[in-house]
Amino acid sequence: MLIDPFGRPITYLRISVTDRCNMRCVYCMPPEGIETRSHDEIMRYEEILQVVQTAAQHGITEVRLTGGEPLARAGIVSLVRMIAETPGIRDLSLTTNGLLLEKFAAELAEAGLKRVNISLDTLDPDKFSRITRGASLERVWSGLQAAESAGLTPIKLNTVAMKGVNEDELIDIARLSQRHPWRVRFIELMPVNNQTPWGEGFPSPQSAYLPIHDIRRILAPLDLQPVEEKSGSGPAREYRIPGAPGTVGFISPLGEHFCERCNRLRLTADGALRPCLLSDIEIPLLKALRAGEDIYPFLERAVLMKPEGHELVKNHRPMTRCMIQIGG
Ligand code: 5AD
Ligand code: SF4
Repeated sequence: MLIDPFGRPITYLRISVTDRCNMRCVYCMPPEGIETRSHDEIMRYEEILQVVQTAAQHGITEVRLTGGEPLARAGIVSLVRMIAETPGIRDLSLTTNGLLLEKFAAELAEAGLKRVNISLDTLDPDKFSRITRGASLERVWSGLQAAESAGLTPIKLNTVAMKGVNEDELIDIARLSQRHPWRVRFIELMPVNNQTPWGEGFPSPQSAYLPIHDIRRILAPLDLQPVEEKSGSGPAREYRIPGAPGTVGFISPLGEHFCERCNRLRLTADGALRPCLLSDIEIPLLKALRAGEDIYPFLERAVLMKPEGHELVKNHRPMTRCMIQIGG
């Protein structure tokens, strides 16, 4: 078992499979995009699988694939299949922007993927296209439907709440949970490496931050009721609009800490372990892996170096990577 110095059992591995994306969301990357790693610097699927197998032997039971956009990497279905077949892995999920879900949902489900989280920040096609710098909301909706038909459920929607961008839509987005058994989650905009201007028609990145307190106030008319049943290990606090099949949750790294319940490690696409999303600590393991070394000591070290909590509150920001390079 991997247990960190603060007594937290580490059972969840988030794997970024690519640092590329087929969207360019304004809060995630600068307009010119980011420099991506060369093919050689990115972990091959066999290498990712080796890490998963070692991790699974030491108590990791849950894996999530992220990116960049995981579905933008060729052959992703084969990776899903290999991980799903790994003894000890009980839950395999994927976070996606949804653009390619229509194409892949059925195959992914067949390969052993359990469920998906889909990012959706607006219900307005024009605004969607502006936020993502050109993507089609309609395609994401088709993707959502495909995921549902394929049984990749419960479907979770991730909405980054932003002042002056989508604060006027939060109620409508929350109301999706009245029509669908979806888990809508509002995420506080994190001040990671996204502080350069977002472009015309957008507020300054600094003024777009909408504290969880304000998000809750905006949603007050919905009379949200706390959900009693335990809904997994996720960081979201879950609520329900009375009578709704779906739920509404809040993910708030700044306003309401969940560090004390954190059970995760991250693996970047270029093969570094990150014990915390919001800290720059990294333990590179790809070189060692390619040299044939046992990588368990690297997992052990990453767990040992897991900070008790992040330091955003102290106004320290992780600056070495953009969100697209960490995987959210
Ligand atoms: N703050 C909060 N969420 C972010 N995401 C990307 N960048 C940020 C940020 N700066 C979200 C995406 C997606 C998830 C993987 O991370 O919208 O839902
Ligand atoms: Fe791509 Fe997600 Fe970043 Fe948008 S937020 S550019 S979908 S990685």
